Amino acid sequence: MRAASFDHYGAPEVVTVVDLPDPVPAAGEVLVRVEAACVTSADVAARSGNPFAIRMVIGLARPRQRVLGTEFAGTIAAIGTDVTRFAVGDRVVAASGASFGAHAELVTVAESGALAKIPDDVPLADALAISEGALTALPFLRDHARLAAGQRILINGASGSVGTAAVQLAKLFGAHVTAVCSAANAELVTSLGADRVIDYGTEDFTRGPDRFDVIFDVVGGSTYGRSRRVLAAGGIYLTTVPDPRIVVDRMRARMLGQHARLALTGLRKDADKRVDLEWLLPLIADGTLVAVIDSRYPLERVADAHARVDTRRKRGAVLLEP
Ligand SMILES: NC(=O)c1ccc[n+]([C@@H]2O[C@H](COP(=O)([O-])OP(=O)(O)OC[C@H]3O[C@@H](n4cnc5c(N)ncnc54)[C@H](OP(=O)(O)O)[C@@H]3O)[C@@H](O)[C@H]2O)c1
Repeated sequence: MRAASFDHYGAPEVVTVVDLPDPVPAAGEVLVRVEAACVTSADVAARSGNPFAIRMVIGLARPRQRVLGTEFAGTIAAIGTDVTRFAVGDRVVAASGASFGAHAELVTVAESGALAKIPDDVPLADALAISEGALTALPFLRDHARLAAGQRILINGASGSVGTAAVQLAKLFGAHVTAVCSAANAELVTSLGADRVIDYGTEDFTRGPDRFDVIFDVVGGSTYGRSRRVLAAGGIYLTTVPDPRIVVDRMRARMLGQHARLALTGLRKDADKRVDLEWLLPLIADGTLVAVIDSRYPLERVADAHARVDTRRKRGAVLLEP
């Protein structure tokens, strides 16, 4: 099979297309012919070795994991022994968590993993694009924020993969949504349901008159310290991006009757992600959640896909189509 592989950290060009042996599904595994895989912020961090902490997982001097890609969709091409939930020909979407390998024509995954059948009427790319962001946004909003109808939420970085899913899920939960993005993306986030849009180019949300029950910083551009003035009493500040300041912020917030938290939802158990995938897919089928796809690249242009994600300007998902 062909796969996108790299053997040292660096710019997008370190990823090239190579031939590798076809994987064979072990007992309890399925073999998926990948039709689309996301190139995510985690993939570009792993490729560049930046932040340095990621090398603790991938390899200190050189990457041990040569083929990246954790979120993918495709058709089951073969099944191992003892597989009962899936059959050859099923269209599936999957999130393989810390085990990369999906930027390839074929990938094996445990049937007990974060894997779900895509409803017939849902385009495979849509199922994939929504699940990439929603598998992160959903646990933040539902489990950490416990977002309830009528609450006011501010989403900073509303136009990326996690942000576009967060806007839609927050509306589904009945919240009033203020989305922060550049002017170029105002129309997009409004179309997804945002009640108000703040253009970060002309307005600093931490200086405005509004108060929020939840501030969800998706892109890590803010801090609790700067945001606490616009956080309501008892409100919660959430961030996806690891920053050592969060340890102190957590204590400060508690003293002020607020909450501040970093969550690493990508590291959740596969079984929990599967439950969420199965909850999300019918919402895609009935049109409640819509896919936002930034761009699509054939496998040969994998470096261009990485370069696009590196810009930090993508709108929704970047897809690689082997
Ligand atoms: N904690 C976890 O478990 C977890 C899981 C998944 C992802 N993450 C992290 O979450 C972050 C977001 O991921 P993502 O895939 O959604 O990112 P993304 O798609 O790359 O986000 C790009 C978007 O961010 C917007 N943006 C860039 N700078 C901004 C700023 N200063 N203020 C507001 N918006 C800004 C851009 O819009 P404009 O062009 O309009 O600026 C662009 O549309 C990443 O850092 C990722 O590593 C964490």
